[in-house]
Amino acid sequence: MALASRQREKQEPITILGIESSCDETAAAVLRRDRQRTEILSSIVATQLREHTPYGGIVPEIAARAHTAKIDTVIRAAVDEAGINYVDLDGVAATSGPGLIGGVITGLMCAKGLALALDIPLLAVNHLEGHALSPRLTEKNYAFPNLLLLVSGGHTQLIGVHGLGDYTRIGSTVDDALGEAFDKTAKVMGLGFPGGPKVENLAATGDAGTYDFPRPYSGTDHANFSLSGLKTAVARAFDSSDKSGQAKADICASFQQAVCDIIVDRIKNAIPIYRKQLKEPESSHRLVVAGGVAANQAIRSVLVDVCEQQNFRLIVPPLKYCTDNAAMIALAGLERFEKGQSDPLNTRARPRWPLDEQAAKSDPVSGCGKKGAKS
Ligand code: KG4
Ligand code: ZN
Repeated sequence: MALASRQREKQEPITILGIESSCDETAAAVLRRDRQRTEILSSIVATQLREHTPYGGIVPEIAARAHTAKIDTVIRAAVDEAGINYVDLDGVAATSGPGLIGGVITGLMCAKGLALALDIPLLAVNHLEGHALSPRLTEKNYAFPNLLLLVSGGHTQLIGVHGLGDYTRIGSTVDDALGEAFDKTAKVMGLGFPGGPKVENLAATGDAGTYDFPRPYSGTDHANFSLSGLKTAVARAFDSSDKSGQAKADICASFQQAVCDIIVDRIKNAIPIYRKQLKEPESSHRLVVAGGVAANQAIRSVLVDVCEQQNFRLIVPPLKYCTDNAAMIALAGLERFEKGQSDPLNTRARPRWPLDEQAAKSDPVSGCGKKGAKS
């Protein structure tokens, strides 16, 4: 029987292996769905932090080699921890973009090999869709439609999520991603990598009123971000400071305050755009926040306030599902599997892959939420 018809006839439970390798985490997870209950049977994440730390950022060549070295063991560990055998799998989902091409190819090729050997469908997942759906792993209140704030090391976007595969771009960065701004701020001051947690920790002992860093696009009515000027302002402030621990803390606190103000300002602009895009009027609204920067407590706290003011329910996945993981990739694959979707074995790895293809065509720079991205 052909794969697609077997897929449609498949009775519950459905068991999917997910693979994630688009940046600096090699991850695999097994998800099982039974009567709408989704259970995370395993979620293994092998970080490459040690490999990249000496360089103060992710080195693509090192990332690609590390994925190749780790991926077999990580997949094996996810299957073992789930207490299943490979033959119990109904489908294999892998991040097929966007991301660092070496890593994406590594994960996708493993998924293709498994799909071929086990004669099960391949599900080529957009990494951003994984982040968008990640709260659904644990959050009962998650529902479509919702307004998604995706803030990671590679992406900064505000997206209307209307259903599986139905996304509209509302705002996007025209230069750096927010996580990148945190990482660069930390690098300038020699705080280490990844910068987000280091900056957040130091900010707790600083005075946020010390520096008045720029809030680009403040006063405009669109919802795009521009963050590269912030990095330059931080570098200048550090250069002219006494470089003491207190000066660093004050810079971190002022930087984080600027970021919080920027996010609130952009969300306030995004909300009316999102409301206009809704196909039907909604009685309650949801703001979903995903991506590694969502771990930041100061940002979470301003999001709580803005949601209260705007009458939105705030949905943030637990920390381990905010950052890159394979459970979110398995989930996106599972949802596509249930709709009878699958991808051919000649599916390409895509370094650029916007969620809203239409927006990316009409506005190639900000369409992708990644600096200089063309598609
Ligand atoms: O989603 P993620 O794990 O990987 C990407 O897809 O990029 O996000 C990683 C980013 C890094 O830039 C890191 O500095 C940032 O998330 N990050 C934070 C915090 N924890 C991680 N940024 C601000 N505050 C944090 N506590
Ligand atoms: Zn990510």
